Amino acid sequence: MSVRCKYFSAYSVFVIILGIAPIFNSSVVHADRRGSSAQDEYDDHQNMMNQLGIRQLRPGANPNNQSTFDEATANPYKDSMPDVLTMKDGTKVTSPAQWPKRRAEILEDFEREVYGRIPPDAPRVTWEVTETTNGNSAGIPTVTKTLVGHVDNSAYPDITVNIRASFTVPAGVKQAVPIMLEFGFGGFFGGRRGRQSGPSWTEQAISHGWGYGFINPGSIQPDRGGMSLRQGIIGLTNKGQPRKPDQWGALRAWGWGVSRLIDFFEANPDAGVDPKKVGIEGVSRYGKAALVTAAFDERVAVTFVASSGEGGAKLHRHIFGEAVENLTGRGEYHWMTGNFLKYGASDPCMTAADLPVDSHELIALCAPRPCFISYGVLPGDPPWVDAHGSFMAGVLAGPVYKLLGKKDFGTPGDYLTDPMPPVGKLIGGELAWRQHEGGHTSEPNWPAFLEWVGRYIKAPPLPQPLAPTPARPAATPG
Ligand code: GCU
Repeated sequence: MSVRCKYFSAYSVFVIILGIAPIFNSSVVHADRRGSSAQDEYDDHQNMMNQLGIRQLRPGANPNNQSTFDEATANPYKDSMPDVLTMKDGTKVTSPAQWPKRRAEILEDFEREVYGRIPPDAPRVTWEVTETTNGNSAGIPTVTKTLVGHVDNSAYPDITVNIRASFTVPAGVKQAVPIMLEFGFGGFFGGRRGRQSGPSWTEQAISHGWGYGFINPGSIQPDRGGMSLRQGIIGLTNKGQPRKPDQWGALRAWGWGVSRLIDFFEANPDAGVDPKKVGIEGVSRYGKAALVTAAFDERVAVTFVASSGEGGAKLHRHIFGEAVENLTGRGEYHWMTGNFLKYGASDPCMTAADLPVDSHELIALCAPRPCFISYGVLPGDPPWVDAHGSFMAGVLAGPVYKLLGKKDFGTPGDYLTDPMPPVGKLIGGELAWRQHEGGHTSEPNWPAFLEWVGRYIKAPPLPQPLAPTPARPAATPG
């Protein structure tokens, strides 16, 4: 047993004595045919542990208990931090021409061990526009289309998946517009956290000549483990059977839905959206999903990652706030691929230090495209997010942006010692960082984001406001 596993077993015993046990139970209660309630013994989390030969997982620490974390001891795994610009065979990446090969290595590791693979035969989606409405946003006339993406379920008709999305563009613009898509919180588009006074982000986007849209993650894949992983798009592709260890989790499934929406924009120029200028934004679990979406689909032009934490922009190897062990528990494992459970296991023991990749490499997969990493501040943005752990990841991703001729955070470049900028100050170029003074939300960062993204992605001018209709001259009598 390695030193780090000994440390963890002592820690696990301590946690168990305290009586902190997993609180989520993924077993499913359903009514049987006779109308009585029966306990379905199927346990998906245990099933995955069995497939992987895991006998025990480490319980996660309370990610919100600040007193248990200490910056001075938060980097016990720094020696195993993968170098984003060193190939697996040890070759140093020194020119942009070498990057695609290194990128492919990193992508493969993230697919197999962290977020999972999308089945090569994932079904087609046929988009239907169910409603078109004229409206106005911030006084600018708009057109909104509501969409349903019907996923072909002919291979397994027992599961139906209809992706729900909507998008709005300023009306009467001569050219196609850039658009920001948001993973809608609360299971439906339009729901979001941290609503403020003043113009909403959607009004701000329209005023900048951008479109905005929402995609409903739950309509792609439920945000739950257990039986739910045998439903949604993941269940459909597995014909209702459990996942294999390297298959996709919910974060990739949600990203897959966004990719299908980009297909729609590509195939429908009359939608008025430039498919080469589609951005994605999300908060919290959807901040993770936004980063994953952009990392894997190079058609995503820009990413706005808000309060994403562990599984998103935060370094897995930074032991502060939420950690691998929290995401391998029953409540959150469904976001990840099955293989990810191995890194939270005490028997056989593996830790974050054994991961072949870390989140700086996920950010690097977005290079050279603009990526805006953001947080709020404590206490509104809770301790588990570990903004510093994401700042460190951004610093470590910087060399890839620079290799590709772009600007990184512009800090000295030592992730262990680089100071974070003051709250409210945006730093960086194509790779940017900003903390706002609010909580667990992206809202206060939208003005800064829209100003920043305008440096890299241009929107066509909005039509001139219609001149007021001149008063008719009075009819001449006679
Ligand atoms: C929990 C979870 C986080 C997640 C968040 C959310 O706090 O631990 O990892 O991001 O929920 O998405 O709301």
